[in-house]
Amino acid sequence: MKVLVLGAGGREHAMAWKLLQSPKVKTLVMCPENTAALEQLRRQYKKDVAGWSDSVKGAENLLALAKKTKSQKIDLVVVGPDNVLADGAVDIFEKEGLAIFGPTQAAAKLESSKIFSKQVMKSAKVPTADSYEVHSVADAEKLLKDLNWARKQWVLKADGLALGKGVEICETRSQALAALGRLQQYSHSFVIEERLFGKELSWLAFCDGDTCSLLPPARDYKTLTADPLSPNTGGMGAVCPVPLEDPQFGDKIRELVFIPTLREMKKRGVPYKGILYAGLMVDGEDIWVLEFNSRFGDPEAQVLLPLIHDDLLEWCLASVEGRLAQKPRVVPMFDECAVYVVAAASGYPGVVRNGDAIQGLDKWMKVHSGFFAGVRKDETQWRTSGGRILGALGFGNTIAEARAKAFERLEQVQFDGMQVRKDVGAEWL
Ligand code: AMP
Ligand code: GLY
Repeated sequence: MKVLVLGAGGREHAMAWKLLQSPKVKTLVMCPENTAALEQLRRQYKKDVAGWSDSVKGAENLLALAKKTKSQKIDLVVVGPDNVLADGAVDIFEKEGLAIFGPTQAAAKLESSKIFSKQVMKSAKVPTADSYEVHSVADAEKLLKDLNWARKQWVLKADGLALGKGVEICETRSQALAALGRLQQYSHSFVIEERLFGKELSWLAFCDGDTCSLLPPARDYKTLTADPLSPNTGGMGAVCPVPLEDPQFGDKIRELVFIPTLREMKKRGVPYKGILYAGLMVDGEDIWVLEFNSRFGDPEAQVLLPLIHDDLLEWCLASVEGRLAQKPRVVPMFDECAVYVVAAASGYPGVVRNGDAIQGLDKWMKVHSGFFAGVRKDETQWRTSGGRILGALGFGNTIAEARAKAFERLEQVQFDGMQVRKDVGAEWL
């Protein structure tokens, strides 16, 4: 089969890397090109690996790409990024008669609209924080002034995609009013919800519109440093599986979160296919959904996918073709732990400096050691090109072992200004 992966980050490198393990995948194309990932994949797999440089942004480019994909006889398209889904990639490619893994534009609103997502959670009786929705800055301001701040704190969420910058946790009314000033660049509609406390988990499942199969829980490290008040990033590392005391916890999440959401989406005429990612807050036995994402997380994909003890292609096809009821309710996994540690460029998540020379990648090209997100080659040298540059992957029988391995691999690579979170996985030492 010929498979096309849309997206060019570390997550998409991991998706391509896992798909190439399928004996059925003979050709794999990445679009846009991630040249370092392509070089690593070509060295590791003696298969046909290609890159296309076409843009995946906006409906017009996606339509052109769908036509090219059809003419190139691609059998399956797998989408990485949220904005590509929100731009309607699945609708556009399906209209051309192509098989594509991911939710339609209307279903992807579970991520692209906080208001829609919250409405679905409420109708489906999925546990979530108490909230209000407002549709103008003036209404938001009035509500923030009226809310009880003596006993509660509130979270302000701009409706719509905002590259992870659309949510602010506010401890006081004046903080919230300042946040409103910043967030109105993204939208004039907001969800304002009660702040919850506990531990966060990323729980992902393959969905086919009717049912789902769960992956194990993962955790990403969102802030730049261990200081919770440091800037939010796309994710500086991830661990999987997160150890949980209750072995039935996954069943509970399935019945409380995934199945009711799928039922509600179907009832609304927007059946949900693809990966559904529930961002959860957990406090003992209590759980709440903080957000839904409509795709694999980055960097959660980099720990989840390598641990799947099965053919990823088959899981994507079962989702696209509505055959998940015939699959196990839980995706078979290797009995191992994985830890992924990101190395980000100087300045990230603000204005980054690019073009720093990266040393030590030759070894990574020979022995698979991680995934590439912002690595480009000029004539002589690998160089930084992006925010999150690359990440090291380690496996082990425990998180501690996997973590030690990931850091050992990361030490092989250097570039100026490299930023790394040293505490990834450290709570399980
Ligand atoms: P969201 O995009 O809605 O997941 O929000 C991004 C991040 O903000 C989450 O991963 C949490 O760390 C935090 N967050 C969102 N909603 C809440 C809430 N109700 N209480 C506490 N933290 C929250
Ligand atoms: N790691 C969080 C996300 O991909 O949204």
